[in-house]
Amino acid sequence: MKHLIDIKDLSIKEIDDMIKVAKDIITNEDKYSHKCDGKKLATLFFEPSTRTRLSFESAMLSLGGNVLGFSEASSSSVSKGETVSDTIRVVGCYSDIIAMRHPKEGAPLVASMKSSVPIINAGDGGHNHPTQTLTDLLTINIEKGRLDNLTIGLCGDLKFGRTVHSLITAMSRYKNIKFVLISPDELKLPEYVKKEVLEKNNIEYAETRNIEEYMSDLDILYMTRVQRERFFNEEDYIRLKDYYILNKKKLDKAKKDLCIMHPLPRVNEISTDIDDDERACYFKQANYGKYIRMALILKMLEVK
Ligand code: CP
Repeated sequence: MKHLIDIKDLSIKEIDDMIKVAKDIITNEDKYSHKCDGKKLATLFFEPSTRTRLSFESAMLSLGGNVLGFSEASSSSVSKGETVSDTIRVVGCYSDIIAMRHPKEGAPLVASMKSSVPIINAGDGGHNHPTQTLTDLLTINIEKGRLDNLTIGLCGDLKFGRTVHSLITAMSRYKNIKFVLISPDELKLPEYVKKEVLEKNNIEYAETRNIEEYMSDLDILYMTRVQRERFFNEEDYIRLKDYYILNKKKLDKAKKDLCIMHPLPRVNEISTDIDDDERACYFKQANYGKYIRMALILKMLEVK
């Protein structure tokens, strides 16, 4: 039985195969509508979510399966002191696969050690978010037509932004990828990601505080929200939250085919004026999330 805890749990071939299936689902959705008849997905969300939880649920329903679960820890017996491990052992009796989000880094890994069914990490603290990365890879594949030869700007909270950590790890395995890391000093990419991923794989990267400095070089601009829930004090959050607000002027020197992405939710970091720009891909990205999760469920349940 295979779990998905970290994007590195999947080989490039497995990711490429899933992207192919997701693209086939997009064009032939009816063909898949009974693939998971009789199967149950449990969504255990100990932290808030809109896209991840609902796209997982929509994915399973579109495959003919059923869903159960909770959207906050307070409505589960965790609020009475039950451990995550015990919760997982029990939910495995009621479901065939579990998607789990938790504020503590490593909680899905611990859960996977006790689980009788496959566990999918739907986001663990500031650590990883592999299914967002699969969504991002499908988006890049569709919008740019390739996953190699790309210069990717990552902007905002690179310290706590788990989607950024997983995306860098995934993209570093493709050919000729360069990164531009755009953040205030306090929210720089953690040293362990730089050392263990970028430097270990000889990936070229630049760091800047200025969003416009490398704008003309970028094929992708991946904006992120400042992660309020991970800050130790509100003052620092208020000082940093509006550090970057992408607007039309800042895109003056951008390529005509730039792909602007954001895992969402957005707070202020992209002006709504940009939403109608044909380079804005973030709502399409949220839509693609359902299809790649359908492909992931099929793979993890070993449905042909
Ligand atoms: N992108 C993402 O993880 O969104 P949610 O927090 O709404 O699930």
